[in-house]
Amino acid sequence: MPSVYIKTYGCQMNERDSEAVAAQLVAKGYSLAASEHVADVVLLNTCSVRDFAEQKAIGKMQNIAAEVRKNRPNVVLGFMGCMAQSRGQELIDRLPDVDLVIGTQKFHRTADYLDEILNGKRDKIVDVAAEQGSEATIREHILNGKAQKSVSAFVSIMQGCNQYCTFCIVPYTRGEERSRRIDDIVAECRELVARGVKEITLLGQIVTSFGKREKRDEWQAARDTGVPSLVTRHSSQVSPFVQLLEAVHEIEGLERIRFTSPHPKGYGDDLVEAYARLPKLVESAHLPVQSGSDRVLKLMHRGYTRERFLGIVEKLRRAQPNIGITTDIIVGFPGETEDDFEQTLSLAREVQFDNAYIFKYSQRKDTPAADMPDQVPQKVREERNQRLLKTVNEIGKRKYETFVGRQTQILVEGPSRKNAARMAGRTRCGKIVVFDGSERHRGQLMDVKITRAGSFTLYGDPAIVNL
Ligand code: 5AD
Repeated sequence: MPSVYIKTYGCQMNERDSEAVAAQLVAKGYSLAASEHVADVVLLNTCSVRDFAEQKAIGKMQNIAAEVRKNRPNVVLGFMGCMAQSRGQELIDRLPDVDLVIGTQKFHRTADYLDEILNGKRDKIVDVAAEQGSEATIREHILNGKAQKSVSAFVSIMQGCNQYCTFCIVPYTRGEERSRRIDDIVAECRELVARGVKEITLLGQIVTSFGKREKRDEWQAARDTGVPSLVTRHSSQVSPFVQLLEAVHEIEGLERIRFTSPHPKGYGDDLVEAYARLPKLVESAHLPVQSGSDRVLKLMHRGYTRERFLGIVEKLRRAQPNIGITTDIIVGFPGETEDDFEQTLSLAREVQFDNAYIFKYSQRKDTPAADMPDQVPQKVREERNQRLLKTVNEIGKRKYETFVGRQTQILVEGPSRKNAARMAGRTRCGKIVVFDGSERHRGQLMDVKITRAGSFTLYGDPAIVNL
């Protein structure tokens, strides 16, 4: 059977989609190749959020094609994911070496399409159609890819986004919000826990909207038919997302629950209260703020003001004083003035984020912001990026230093990425802790004493507390 190499660009959702495709191919008998240089099938799972990510994947495919076509003409080359969805056939027109283009609702068809190409039945395949029910097709896992058990797993709970932020391509690449059923998600989580997983991260483009569309549809059906639906009969004060958290929380043997990405406006009292009520829900929140200026937030169609955002942060910190809060910020959105940008700087100082991912605004095809007046010059975007980065890094450094001398619980995930001789775990608030340990620590919840803080990394010593 052939071997496959999948390279993933972009977010955790993409990581998860790639894992599911790899697992489906392994189930069909494929082996996983160590690199594109030895694989029979090379798939790039792409990201469209910024132009840079698209150009990287296109450049990579050009390099692979040039190398592979010289020596191994039969290697199958494919694009999957968001850029495949938004560009479709255009990718083959531009890169004729590409055999396969698979959109975001068709990951589960990868094995069939590869079969057809490898057997010579079809030459090129492009499938970027919508498919009903595709949100429930990302469910297979590779838990021991490196012959080691995974401690932490991602579970996809929904696809798509209906928020339509004016800068964002995601509603066009991922489609309308569609949620999986709670019982289906819980069954997948249970299976993972039975296979040794201790921590589950629930994934979606806008997880706080989980189940909202389905709930509304059920309400409507109940009203139209007069038959009370499951939802109306058990009408609950808590949102479907919190109901999902509660259901996953009940799984015995599961230690920690995380989720990403939420939308700040989804932090109603029910979710804030869940942090205090559900001990497995860790003290960590990724709250993408995007800007500190009300004027820009409105142009972005974010659906909250600076004040409301600050209120959410305050509520969360009241419920969980040690909560780790990270964010995403865009600099240089069309029309962003120096004054708007300074409001973002001041918001970053006011909130004191544990970490912030900063993005220079990138014009995306067919999004409203791409045609807005007063696009900010590249040089100004770069300069604001540097200034904000400096502020965010200083704050992060101080925050990390406050951990030195403290004792904290970590879940050990495996060898440190930077230094395989050491082990790494994560605090409940989401910070990486590197320590001298061994494979036997993998999967353990351990107390460590923090001895040093580096750049967005903590260093700890378990010996001091576990004498
Ligand atoms: N330009 C720059 N950054 C973007 N993001 C989304 N769309 C764009 C864009 N057009 C950023 C947002 C989002 C993160 C995943 O990517 O900050 O939260």
